[in-house]
Amino acid sequence: MEKMKRTVSCGDLRAACEGQNVVLNGWVDTKRDHGGISFINIRDRYGITQLVADTNETALDAETKEALAALHNEYCIAVRGIVRKRPPQMINKDMPTGEVEVLVNELVTLNSCEPLPFQIEDETKAKEELRLKYRYLDLRSAAMQRRIALRSQLSFATREFLTKRGFYEIETPTFVRSTPEGARDYLVPSRLYPGKFYALPQSPQIYKQLLMVSCFDKYFQLARCYRDEDARGDRQPEFTQIDIEMSFVSRDDVLCLTEELMAYIFKRTLDIELPACFTRISYDEAIRRFGTDKPDLRFSLELQDFSPFADIPEFSAFKNALIQGEEARKAAAEKGISKAGGAVTALVVPGKADYSRKQIEELEAHSKIYRSKGMAWMKVSGSKEEPILEGGVSKFFKAQTDQICASLGAKPGDLILIIADADSKIAHIALGAVRSKLGKDLGLCDPMRFEFAWIVDFPLFEYNEEEKRWEAAHHMFSYPQEEFHAVLESDPGVVKGDLYDLVLNGYELASGSIRIHNGDLQKRIFKIVGLSEEEAEKKFGFLTSAFKYGAPPHGGIAPGLDRLVMLMSGESSIKEVIAFPKNSFAESPMDGSPGEVDKNQLDELHLVIKND
Ligand code: AMO
Repeated sequence: MEKMKRTVSCGDLRAACEGQNVVLNGWVDTKRDHGGISFINIRDRYGITQLVADTNETALDAETKEALAALHNEYCIAVRGIVRKRPPQMINKDMPTGEVEVLVNELVTLNSCEPLPFQIEDETKAKEELRLKYRYLDLRSAAMQRRIALRSQLSFATREFLTKRGFYEIETPTFVRSTPEGARDYLVPSRLYPGKFYALPQSPQIYKQLLMVSCFDKYFQLARCYRDEDARGDRQPEFTQIDIEMSFVSRDDVLCLTEELMAYIFKRTLDIELPACFTRISYDEAIRRFGTDKPDLRFSLELQDFSPFADIPEFSAFKNALIQGEEARKAAAEKGISKAGGAVTALVVPGKADYSRKQIEELEAHSKIYRSKGMAWMKVSGSKEEPILEGGVSKFFKAQTDQICASLGAKPGDLILIIADADSKIAHIALGAVRSKLGKDLGLCDPMRFEFAWIVDFPLFEYNEEEKRWEAAHHMFSYPQEEFHAVLESDPGVVKGDLYDLVLNGYELASGSIRIHNGDLQKRIFKIVGLSEEEAEKKFGFLTSAFKYGAPPHGGIAPGLDRLVMLMSGESSIKEVIAFPKNSFAESPMDGSPGEVDKNQLDELHLVIKND
């Protein structure tokens, strides 16, 4: 190998290198033979270079000729040759090395390659399961190489920015105590302590708060997190967060730092300038306008209030939803629970009056996944001056045509979709889901446009109807906004937290909050979510104890690194930006994990498998 060690990479050579004697190492990307002349594209991490081997050439030794004859795609080779300019008509402008080729003098096969399970190419047609089984091959494609490179650059830019800002990168343990944080824990049995388990952290939340108590007032970590939850395109059982915590800060300090971090990352990696500040939208407004707390702002379709037109004697569905909603609101209020009433919400889809009944029914079916009871519709025709409502429920609204069109801004050619529900959140979320689907169906989501937004003023608690109890909407350590401290116990539903999410192109990119740093307030929160003092002490005693020792006010945030790289690469699955991800069933088709273990191992861990 010493003699055939590369002197340049496969991406290095340019016209100015003409005449150089070089050695290249890499893989055979393609090979074409034309009457004794072979054109071989050799590929490595840095690019592709064309090799030309003339087997009629007597100067080539017998081993090289033999190696050339046996060569196939993905053979790992070393080659020595002279750089020469390609004839003008042969220049390949799509290749950075396209002005030159290397005339082969000597070629050695470093390793052959078995027939490939799939072709290595950017737009691979191989099934995901096969790609994951042979991930080491899949990673050779230029597209995967680009994404993994972006991930590495992004991690570097993050470390660079935060370190320059005085943050320390501190590792926290990956064997921790199991503490409830929303998802199920992955558990690790202890050999030394029968029946006891470590948990893999869902996030370093508690540890980063403890670091604030320890006076490390600016902490970050590219933290591995583990959550046993249902798979989704933007979720993996193990993933990475850019975990950040700061002391003596207010919400705006965290928001501004995150904006600057994002601006730095985008400039440094994609050379894209982001706006200095991101739009801020309250949670309530986001639900009302977009039917989701992660709105995609790349397109402007917005939900609108249709309730002023609901009071029609012949068509009671909308009005009934409002009446029932109001009754439910009053009944809940009597029990001290704040509840929104009903809603009738509309979405104008510009220029889509030509949608067929089938297309509309598909949208309705989509809304039903989000618990709508149905979706009404009508179409606008006529002229701007004299619009006409047609189809669907239009006959009930003819008398209000002008007011409806003016209020919704609907024009001839537009489609109007309406959802009513006694629970306003259901109406908004169901129509919001239709909005998101339309955004995708109508091609309104340019993957390389980046629209950030902050969602602020989240409710601190959510009511769990099944278990009839309040739960923390984010986690139990988030600070209730000052003005709600007096009503925490009496009206948990109205309490807003100092909570914020960063949303990018319809995805939740980051979540964070200002934390509770006062033991008494923390105890009140534990009590509201139904955690007894003993349980709280058992689970979080080490945190509440720490708070007794001069804990500073603090807050933080955690952008998901995988989701960020996914969005920056224009992808819709985080598997595309993780070197070795799990499949949708939390398995690795490559190494076969999770796998069975020997009885001896189980015995050592004091475990018996129950075969249900
Ligand atoms: P949260 O649970 O909202 O907050 O997570 C923060 C961010 O982490 C990413 N994320 C995921 N990425 C891939 N796969 C998953 N299964 C997954 N789950 C979450 C998302 C999300 O926005 N400790 C708090 C943060 C804080 O308060 O500082 C936390 O973990 O991008």
